Amino acid sequence: MNATFKNSKVLVIDQNKERAQITQAALENIHYKSVVVTNLEDIPNPGSAKNNYLAVMLGKVSAAPQLESLLKIGRPGASRVPFLMMPDSTDDPTLVNQLDPQRAWSMHSPAESPELASLLERAEKCDRRQSMAKRFTPTGRSKRISRVRELIEQVAPHNSTVLITGESGTGKEVVARSIHENSSRADMPFVPINCGAIPAELLESELFGHEKGSFTGALNSRKGRFEMAEGGTLFLDEIGDMSVTMQVKLLRVLQERCYERVGGTKTRQCNVRVLAATHCCLEEAIEKKEFRLDLFYRLNVFPIEMPPLRKRKMDLPELVTNLMSRQENDGRCSLRLTSDAMRTLGSYAWPGNIRELSNLVERLTIQNSDGMIDTCDLPSKYRNHCVDTTDDELLDENTQVSSETQLPGEGLDLREHLSNVEKKLISQALRASNGTVASAARLLNLGRTTLVEKLRKYDLSGSSVVASKN
Ligand SMILES: Nc1ncnc2c1ncn2[C@@H]1O[C@H](COP(=O)(O)OP(=O)(O)OP(=O)(O)O)[C@@H](O)[C@H]1O
Ligand SMILES: [Mg+2]
Repeated sequence: MNATFKNSKVLVIDQNKERAQITQAALENIHYKSVVVTNLEDIPNPGSAKNNYLAVMLGKVSAAPQLESLLKIGRPGASRVPFLMMPDSTDDPTLVNQLDPQRAWSMHSPAESPELASLLERAEKCDRRQSMAKRFTPTGRSKRISRVRELIEQVAPHNSTVLITGESGTGKEVVARSIHENSSRADMPFVPINCGAIPAELLESELFGHEKGSFTGALNSRKGRFEMAEGGTLFLDEIGDMSVTMQVKLLRVLQERCYERVGGTKTRQCNVRVLAATHCCLEEAIEKKEFRLDLFYRLNVFPIEMPPLRKRKMDLPELVTNLMSRQENDGRCSLRLTSDAMRTLGSYAWPGNIRELSNLVERLTIQNSDGMIDTCDLPSKYRNHCVDTTDDELLDENTQVSSETQLPGEGLDLREHLSNVEKKLISQALRASNGTVASAARLLNLGRTTLVEKLRKYDLSGSSVVASKN
């Protein structure tokens, strides 16, 4: 019986013991495990509930310190875990007012399996959406990438067309997916098409579809990418490589939101959000009459420019951690870079940007079994090059660090000073790891337990970052 249970658990809190048992049985019926609490003092580890439960169900509850801590995760912006509220809890305004109204969902009493199943299905959808949105968020703490995240947040909820520019491998597709995942279209398809990789004569049929017999080889009618993306997002990658004839056809869809299949006469309406990307300078292409100015204006409603990696080198450690965990999730070994190796990577110019970094990390995990990667383990290309420090943000940070290593004329309290530096670096590592202690420990080349001890010592354990999943 147990084998059929789902992985996610529901936390049930109800001082009405009899009803709590009914809820537990209703959950078991639809194969959800639960942790049932009838005495509020027994709420297990409230701070980490957002990582451990798919939903929290509140029945009859009265004020208690453990409950107060638990309700913090229900506040607006604190997490995505929904609170399923029985009538007794919805009747208590002091309780309801604390919770994010978007995540406080009412349910009937006593619980019944069909209603629970539909509420938990909704919770799973929110959970999936959150992890997808997280997966496609461009990582990094540099000002440049933080600005990109701000722009994504601003534009995602609207239907505006976005033009994403930047050198090859900087993460343009990651941005496009992030916009989609953070939009109301997230549950609908995200359809990418590389306009540069498809021969000009086939692109029209790829985009708009074709009717049977419309050209030699068109044995059946076929949907185009616009039709596949209906209700969702179409990502036109390498738009700079599109022929001028196709540009005219695309312009019409963007303006009139309708098109015909190749060889078809029926005009089809479409509800598709268009995102486009290019590594070319479209302004230059316009001057050379290779790109239409009117299409450029249509696409460039909201521009986002991806910074090259050489301009955001302070993001390297976080990117490496991120890419290494991706390798670990794919079943490859777990590696760490010595600070010397990280410095060596920091002085390389990264012409291939994050794609090049991602390929290097993959190569290192294939070539090395568990352990540390030092400078000598890096391919020679990354060791033998001139020092390149065009990242002005990194320069700013280095200046700050060097002022911290200057002895002031009046002297200082060395222990206190070193503790402050240690605290600062730990906080930075936690921020860079989105609060994941194990990743932060890796960035600092510390064992996880050692870092946990330091967090306790500096009383950093109460902060939200530390409370999140290890
Ligand atoms: N912030 C990030 N964190 C982790 N990996 C990333 C990040 N940004 C990009 N990547 C990875 O880098 C690679 C290149 O990203 P992407 O395909 O989005 O770049 P691009 O700008 O579209 O490249 P191209 O111009 O070559 O099409 C991908 O493997 C992607 O997963
Ligand atoms: Mg791309």
